[in-house]
Amino acid sequence: MNTEKIFMDAKNPDIGDAEKAGKILRNGGIVAFPTETVYGLGASAFDEDAVKKVFEAKGRPNDNPLIVHIADFDDIKPLVSDLPQAAEKVMKNFMPGPISMVLKKSSLIPNAVSAGLDTVAVRMPENAAARAIIRAAGVPVAAPSANTSGKPSPTEAKHVIADLDGKIDMIVDAGACSVGVESTVLDLTSDIPTVLRPGKITAPMLERVLGKVNAPDSITTPDSETPKCPGMKYKHYAPKARVVIIEYTKLETMTEELKKLIWAEQRSGAMAAVMSDGACDYSFADAVLLCGSSPDEYAKNLFKTLRDFDEIGADVVFAPLCWTSPVMSAVRNRIYKAAANNIIRL
Ligand code: TXA
Ligand code: MG
Repeated sequence: MNTEKIFMDAKNPDIGDAEKAGKILRNGGIVAFPTETVYGLGASAFDEDAVKKVFEAKGRPNDNPLIVHIADFDDIKPLVSDLPQAAEKVMKNFMPGPISMVLKKSSLIPNAVSAGLDTVAVRMPENAAARAIIRAAGVPVAAPSANTSGKPSPTEAKHVIADLDGKIDMIVDAGACSVGVESTVLDLTSDIPTVLRPGKITAPMLERVLGKVNAPDSITTPDSETPKCPGMKYKHYAPKARVVIIEYTKLETMTEELKKLIWAEQRSGAMAAVMSDGACDYSFADAVLLCGSSPDEYAKNLFKTLRDFDEIGADVVFAPLCWTSPVMSAVRNRIYKAAANNIIRL
């Protein structure tokens, strides 16, 4: 299949271009489009065949439900059977933005989207190009991240091209995503709202509006459990290199330990790289890529930097981390999976 590529302005989208993408979606095709978090691979949420094409293109297990994306507040009511007060508060305070609400679904949501659950995750992205495309489609758009399952999520169109060129109808390029980690998934079907996947909208931000919010400490769900957020049980975000996290508090202790680890890797012939947090120059490594010098910057560049290590051919990537701000829950949730929980605590 020839994958058409078009460019759009993330802030001032051209309506004609949005209509090109919208028409494909409306007619049962699949389109990769930008959001503020990561690129999504969209299909009409009402078209079961189109939704199946999304699972196929990504190689996604079909027990993992999709988030349904809407353009305007009025679009939500038909998709859900109940809109609790907490949902109204989330909409008022955080939407459009990087958050998805899990609610009881209406009969309009096919099983292919909800993977047989009686709930649906709904999200209204802030990215204006995304909203223009969804609005032009005239249907809600079911969209997982536009990567091959198991790879780091795409935060630039070139990542989508690397994974999905030739497998989907269109890729809309609107530059790099500003947030960089996927939306917070918030379950509003339980008595106490529960964060199923941490993101840029953090538990403390939600608590200020909703009162008590559960945000489980465990950042990975053991495979043996039936997870409430099915996607969390799969190994994710894995680059080709082995990733090793170094959780540290004292810079000096960490650099001494890291030097030893890197020498050991080098002696066995491995190319040993560091994903830098900007705390020092890490010049003793074979390669250093700066991910970010602040939690927000680190989140924005995380997936891109993991992909960049593949390009330079790193065998092992050490990722020193020391920040504790709330957005780091989202970062750790992703990077611990990329590292298959290979963590050294100093
Ligand atoms: O930021 C995002 O959320 C991006 C952009 C494209 O919007 N989308 C995204 O989709 O990350 P995906 O499919 O890669 O991740 C969706 C996550 C999965 O872990 C899935 O299991 C969970 O949301 N999810 C979807 N529907 C759910 C539901 N009804 N109940 C619980 N978890 C759900
Ligand atoms: Mg994903």
